[in-house]
Amino acid sequence: MPHDAAARTSHARQLFAPLGPTYDRTAALLSFAQDPRWKRFLVSCVAPTLAPGSHTLDVATGTAAVAIDLATRTGCRVTGLDQSPEMLAAGRERVSRAGLAERVQLVEGSAEALPFGDATFDALTVTYLLRYVDDPAVQVRELARVVRPGGPLASLEFAVPAGAWRPLWDVYVGAVLPAAGRLLSPAWADVGRFLGPSIRGFYRDHPLAVQLDWWRAAGIHDVQARRLSVGGGVVIWGHRS
Ligand SMILES: C[S@@+](CC[C@H](N)C(=O)[O-])C[C@H]1O[C@@H](n2cnc3c(N)ncnc32)[C@H](O)[C@@H]1O
Repeated sequence: MPHDAAARTSHARQLFAPLGPTYDRTAALLSFAQDPRWKRFLVSCVAPTLAPGSHTLDVATGTAAVAIDLATRTGCRVTGLDQSPEMLAAGRERVSRAGLAERVQLVEGSAEALPFGDATFDALTVTYLLRYVDDPAVQVRELARVVRPGGPLASLEFAVPAGAWRPLWDVYVGAVLPAAGRLLSPAWADVGRFLGPSIRGFYRDHPLAVQLDWWRAAGIHDVQARRLSVGGGVVIWGHRS
């Protein structure tokens, strides 16, 4: 994992550039269909407060899976932001196929300096971003900044299972995922090698309790977390104070 900020950003750009057209199907396959399930739970954390006409920001939207689900389930408008033009291109095709082009807008930009004013959005979702940014605590503050007081925020990230599942997870990310990636394509081989060390390193440096403190320090209240699928994923959510 690159250590300085510029290297981290450019590594993420290179990693995702070739993945757009195969991203959703492969992510579902490699997660044993848990990734779409986790995303549905993420959306359910913010959906109850969203009415048609309200406006949600989906950060690190990639191919817009969460943005599309939000718009379909709640009737809200969604802006999806990502730094990868290639992932966004795949996302725009999906949005257009879903007939949502009027309500889902995808924009290229950096999550670390969101191009929006304070309290612009009624809600915010973010998926698998924090391992790619320079300072994840600062990133959480930047996410909270653009949400109006009282608005919900929810984040989905991979996690490291505990107990008996931990050695199985180690084998999966250490051997099965790299081998499956090699079978699929050179680009997925890179992802297969990268993911295990990236997730393990993130939780070694920032245990879940520390992450929840970032959320509270960012002015988010009623912060909750739920581990999903034996702890392979975690959703954190709360409301802007
Ligand atoms: C694992 S993908 C997740 C995509 C999408 N959220 C999904 O799973 O449906 C991570 C995404 O984060 C984006 N990303 C990484 N660093 C970013 C940054 N600093 N600003 C904006 N997007 C970033 C990547 O381009 C990529 O699309």
